[in-house]
Amino acid sequence: MSDRKKLFIKTYGCQMNVYDSERMAASLDKAGYDQTDEVAEADMVLLNTCHIREKAAEKVYSELGRIKELRVAKPDLKIGVAGCVAQAEGEEIVRRQPAVDLVVGPQAYHNLPAMLDALKPGKPVINTDFPAEDKFDHLPDDRRARRAPSAFLTVQEGCDKFCAFCVVPYTRGAEVSRPVARILSEAKDLVSRGVAEITLLGQNVNAYHGEGPDGEMGLAALIRALAEIEGLERIRFTTSHPNDMEDDLIAAHGEIDKLMPYLHLPVQSGSDSVLKAMNRKHTAESYFTLIERIRAARPDIALSGDFIVGFPGETEADFQATLDLVERVEYAQAFSFKYSARPGTPAADREEVPEDVKSERLARLQALLLQQQRAFQESVVGRVLPVLLEKPGRKDGQLIGKSPYLQAVHLDAAPELIGTIQQVRIVSSKSNSLSGELMG
Ligand code: SAH
Ligand code: SF4
Ligand code: F3S
Repeated sequence: MSDRKKLFIKTYGCQMNVYDSERMAASLDKAGYDQTDEVAEADMVLLNTCHIREKAAEKVYSELGRIKELRVAKPDLKIGVAGCVAQAEGEEIVRRQPAVDLVVGPQAYHNLPAMLDALKPGKPVINTDFPAEDKFDHLPDDRRARRAPSAFLTVQEGCDKFCAFCVVPYTRGAEVSRPVARILSEAKDLVSRGVAEITLLGQNVNAYHGEGPDGEMGLAALIRALAEIEGLERIRFTTSHPNDMEDDLIAAHGEIDKLMPYLHLPVQSGSDSVLKAMNRKHTAESYFTLIERIRAARPDIALSGDFIVGFPGETEADFQATLDLVERVEYAQAFSFKYSARPGTPAADREEVPEDVKSERLARLQALLLQQQRAFQESVVGRVLPVLLEKPGRKDGQLIGKSPYLQAVHLDAAPELIGTIQQVRIVSSKSNSLSGELMG
C-alpha cells in the first residue's frame, strides 16, 4: 500500500484563490499528498477562503463545523484555513473553531510543508507573514501533468487603491508584480501541458509593472510577449481598474488577435458623490469616456463590471445614476452585490442604508443587467464563432466550449477535439449558455 495521503481543498472567492489552490496542491504533492474530490476520504482538508463580504467569511465557520465531525471517523484529520479569512482573522479562527490545526495567509503558502512538519496535536500553527520575496518562486509546479485547455496565471497580486469598502488591500497586501521572465516560463510550461488559453490574474491586473529584460514592462507589453508563444491561442486578463487602463492596453485590444474581446472593468456606482465616498478616483463620465475609447479600438468587445448597491450615503438619486450608467454602457455580463460592511475598512463606521432598501435596489439593478445579458447572448445567435472546446458536457457526445466573449457554448462533438478551437454556428441562446453546431 502506498503511504501517500489524501488532500481535499475547497476554494471560495475569486479566481486568484483557484490559482492559489492549484499551487498549494502542487506544493503538498511534494509533502506526500494526492488531491481528492471526496472530503470523506481526506487526511487533510484545506479551506481556501474569501473575506470580501460578510456572508463569504461566515460560510467558512459553518463549513468548519461540518468538517470537524469527520474527526469522529478520522481522529488524525488535519484541518487548515488558507486565503483571505486566514489573513484577516488569523488566531481568531482558532479561537472560534479550536479544531483548526493550520492557518495560512495568501503570502505564506510556500511555508505549508514546513508548517505541516511543525504540527503537534492541540497546537495550531499560524502563519500570516508578508515575505518580501516572490512566494511563487517557492511553489514550483513540476508535476508535469496534462492540464485542462484553459488556465489561470497570476501576474500581479495585492492592491494599493484602498476603495473605502474593500478588504483586499489588507488581505492580499501591497501591489506586487511578478517578473516577466517567470511569467513567460510558466506560460510556456502550461502550453506544453495542453493549455491553449491563459487568463492573467491580478487584483489590479492592469497596474502590472513587472521587471523585463530591458526595464519595467506594463501589461500591454507583457501580453505582446505572451502572444509570441506558439500554441498559446487565447489571452485574457482580470480584474482591471478603470484608472489603470493605459493607451497601449486599449490599443492592444485592436491589435493582438490572441487577446480576447472581453473586458471586466468594474465601476461600482454611477453616482459621482458615491464614487468619491468610495475613494474610486474616477467619475461616471470618465468611465464612460474610457468605454468609448475601448470600443473604438475593438468595436465588438464584451464588457463586464461589478456594482455595489446601498453603499453608505447612497440616495435614490445616486442609485438612479447607476441605472443610467448601465443603460448607457450596455454590459454583456455583470456582477452586483449589496454593500457589506467589512471590519477595518474606512466605510465600516458609516451609517448604513437599510437592508430592505439595499435588497430592493439590488433587485432593480439585477433585472436591468439580466435584460442586457440576455440581449447580448441573443446578439450572437446565427453567427459563426471560434469556440475553444474545453470539456465533456452533461449529455453523451456533448462538449462544452467557450466563445471569444467568454460565453459557454454546448455542442455535439468528438472528445478528441477537446483543446482545439473550432468554428461553431450558434443556433440558440439560453440564459447562461449557447447551443451551437460544428461547421464543416
Ligand atoms: N479588483 C478586485 C476586486 C475584488 S472584489 C478583483 O480583482 O476582482 C470583487 C468585487 O466585490 C468588487 O469589484 C466589488 O464590486 C465587490 N465588493 C468588494 N467589497 C465589497 C463589500 N464590502 N461589499 C459588497 N461588495 C464588495
Ligand atoms: Fe478592492 Fe478597490 Fe483594490 Fe479592487 S481596486 S481590490 S475593489 S481596493
Ligand atoms: Fe475574496 Fe480574497 Fe479574492 S477576499 S475576492 S479571495 S482576494
